[in-house]
Amino acid sequence: MLTSETIHPDRNDKREARAAVHRIGRVARWELAEEGVRLYGEKANLSLTFLADGAVRIRLFFGVAPDLATTPAVLPQTKAGAVSLEETARDYRAVAAGGVAVAVDRERGIFSVFRANGETLLAGVDLFWDRDRSATLTAGMDENSHFYGLGEKTGFLDKKGERYEMWNSDVYEPHVPDISALYQSIPLLIHFRSGGTGAAYGVFLDDPGRAAFDMRTSPDRYAIQSENGNLDLYVLEGPTLKDVVKRYAGLTGKPPMPPRWAIGYQQSRYSYMNEEEVLGIARTMREKRIPCDVIYLDIHYMDEYRVFTWDPERFPDPKGMMRQLKEMGFRVVPIVDPGVKQDPKYPVYVEGVREGYFCKKLEGETFIGNVWPGPSAFTDYTDERAAKWWGDLHQFYIDHGIEGIWNDMNEPSVFNTASKTMDVDVVHANGGRPKTHGEWHNLYGMLMSKATYEGMARGLGGERPFVLTRAGYAGIQRYAAVWTGDNRSYWEHLAMSIPMVLNLGLSGVAFAGPDIGGFSHHASGELVARWTQAGALFPFCRNHSAIDTPHQEPWVYGERVEAICREYLGLRYRLMPYLYSLFYEATSTGLPIVRPLLLEYPEDANVANLCDQFLLGRDLLAAPILRPGTTARSVYLPEGVWLDFWTGERLEGGRFVLAQAPLEVMPLYVRAGAILPEQPLRQHAEEAVEGPTTLRVYAGGEGSFRLFEDDGRTFGYESGRYRLREFAWTEADGERTLSASVVHDGYEGDASELRIAVGNLDREPSSVQLSGAEESGARHYDAAKKVLTVSVRGAGGEFRLSLQEQGLR
Ligand code: GLC
Repeated sequence: MLTSETIHPDRNDKREARAAVHRIGRVARWELAEEGVRLYGEKANLSLTFLADGAVRIRLFFGVAPDLATTPAVLPQTKAGAVSLEETARDYRAVAAGGVAVAVDRERGIFSVFRANGETLLAGVDLFWDRDRSATLTAGMDENSHFYGLGEKTGFLDKKGERYEMWNSDVYEPHVPDISALYQSIPLLIHFRSGGTGAAYGVFLDDPGRAAFDMRTSPDRYAIQSENGNLDLYVLEGPTLKDVVKRYAGLTGKPPMPPRWAIGYQQSRYSYMNEEEVLGIARTMREKRIPCDVIYLDIHYMDEYRVFTWDPERFPDPKGMMRQLKEMGFRVVPIVDPGVKQDPKYPVYVEGVREGYFCKKLEGETFIGNVWPGPSAFTDYTDERAAKWWGDLHQFYIDHGIEGIWNDMNEPSVFNTASKTMDVDVVHANGGRPKTHGEWHNLYGMLMSKATYEGMARGLGGERPFVLTRAGYAGIQRYAAVWTGDNRSYWEHLAMSIPMVLNLGLSGVAFAGPDIGGFSHHASGELVARWTQAGALFPFCRNHSAIDTPHQEPWVYGERVEAICREYLGLRYRLMPYLYSLFYEATSTGLPIVRPLLLEYPEDANVANLCDQFLLGRDLLAAPILRPGTTARSVYLPEGVWLDFWTGERLEGGRFVLAQAPLEVMPLYVRAGAILPEQPLRQHAEEAVEGPTTLRVYAGGEGSFRLFEDDGRTFGYESGRYRLREFAWTEADGERTLSASVVHDGYEGDASELRIAVGNLDREPSSVQLSGAEESGARHYDAAKKVLTVSVRGAGGEFRLSLQEQGLR
């Protein structure tokens, strides 16, 4: 029988009508408003808010007034001072004093953004939406355009020619280039133009619903699309890439200092199945002298995957186990997933239901989805009470001596829905401003990690917690480190982990890394060796492997691979003062810890898409081996003089060199002029080892370094309890000088002894003078290594070490 459905309008609408798009149209009127400026068009309007820090927020809105609430990604911002308005025959122009300018085309309502000096940043091409309100902005690009950021995406460093979606997804399929969305969604696009001005700007789309960035479809424009029509954009002025990254950090936050132990090497496995196995791994690490700080507990530690429980058979005495691990210098990080097992006898579930903490449909029914424990409920972290409750539940772990938590499956991943996530019609309470899951999907993981971080911080009473997360949105860096999910033991994934971590760093997430060795698939010893070499210099350094794969600890593949892992993880621990200081730089500026060469050498046309090598900080250049059976590779050294870290060989930059790389060697270079602080080898970050810090200075160029020191554990640094010393190396008029100054002196830890090792000195200096401190012990020049070593006492304050050499210009 036919019903009236036969004549449903959808069956009759012309295809063209369905495809029709709408535009703002002629802009009839504009006005100054509280937030800045509003422009009213025929079919929609724009609101402009100029921010003090060289940024402008541009919001498309329908109706009389815009909704200017931001998502939790955006921190409170200061507005720019005076905004002046001008009208020309073509445009309305709003200009913020000392900031950016926005021109809105009077006929079409399309906007462009300029720098104060008139240079174009974002050149608007079109802005339209379809009948479902999916809205798209397109903006100009050209042959000099390169794109970076976008958080955790597959592919190479430069995203030109690619299209990606923002929709947090649990992707167990291999992470290949056509996977458009992974676990994280960071809708920050950095547009950089090489040649000419070399200017960069960023566009951040503050929309945690489904969105897309398309740098593929058109040769002359890129597109940013918000499925929910939420075009809430922030254009961040450069002009340099570093400026964009810093401005983005001003908008969405900087990472807090992690506890020092969390910077150490971490060993994981899905799963270390019981207490004996965990203790065995810990003992083996120490016996074999493989430095390590953390052992992970994956889902098998729980009682039938109920979070905040222990499996009574596998882990009968968790407190006792923790005590033994602590004595050996290990921390434990257990996994905590969002799914709470639906079980009327499980207090967490019962309380969550009783108090209304779980996500619900509008009609009131709790959303239940299947994950590891079977049918499960999911906390609504947009509800402050629920988030606090969740955070406080972590006291359970704190009581066991645990200070770090691993958040997984928090896209959220759901096994039994067609979408593989929470139904989009679940309604998040959001403090009385409800949002559907479809609108706020990408925030779920970040709000879980926020609740976790804050709960742990409350419970730890002043100690810094560590949280690791799989899912996240812009701003996740304020709460958690990010690992890049279920990669595979493929050489391609080792290679891809570099651009992925680099782009995460350009997207605010400095503390990131892949599963070293690869999660699923079977790793070869050679792959583990090569991946550990590279991973030892990544900010987050964890080896993890899946349940159905062979074990992947450093000793599994025999002595040769074990020795390589020991050597490179040892290097990480020796360089920890360098790494730790880079973490502080990230905390104070938002700049990444590992960097594409592009960030330091933006004018070098060779590095726009260079991502098989990376910089740790500014001065250390790593060129990992990314293919099996490879014992040499080409390495690009940017301008300046570079020194082979292993041999001291001096190399002119601005060219490719061929590096020899037997399995034991990852090519590594230091910029001449660099100052690298090094500590004696430790087996874990807090191990008390005698011996001073060595400042390795690499002569032949100039440079400086800020060494950060604090207790490594507390939030004291936030109130000034840290020491920041600046060391500068200059070379002029036959004199080379290391000068030390104290930028901030709020930490009592001992700093009096320092060893200074100046390398790349062809001859012993004819004179060495130290002022402001005393020499302790004998000075030594090693002619073979070309290194002069000077031991200094009373090195905590200002001092100068000058080397003179006759004949040196
Ligand atoms: C997910 C995680 C993986 C973890 C596994 C079991 O696949 O990404 O790291 O080991 O779940 O918890």
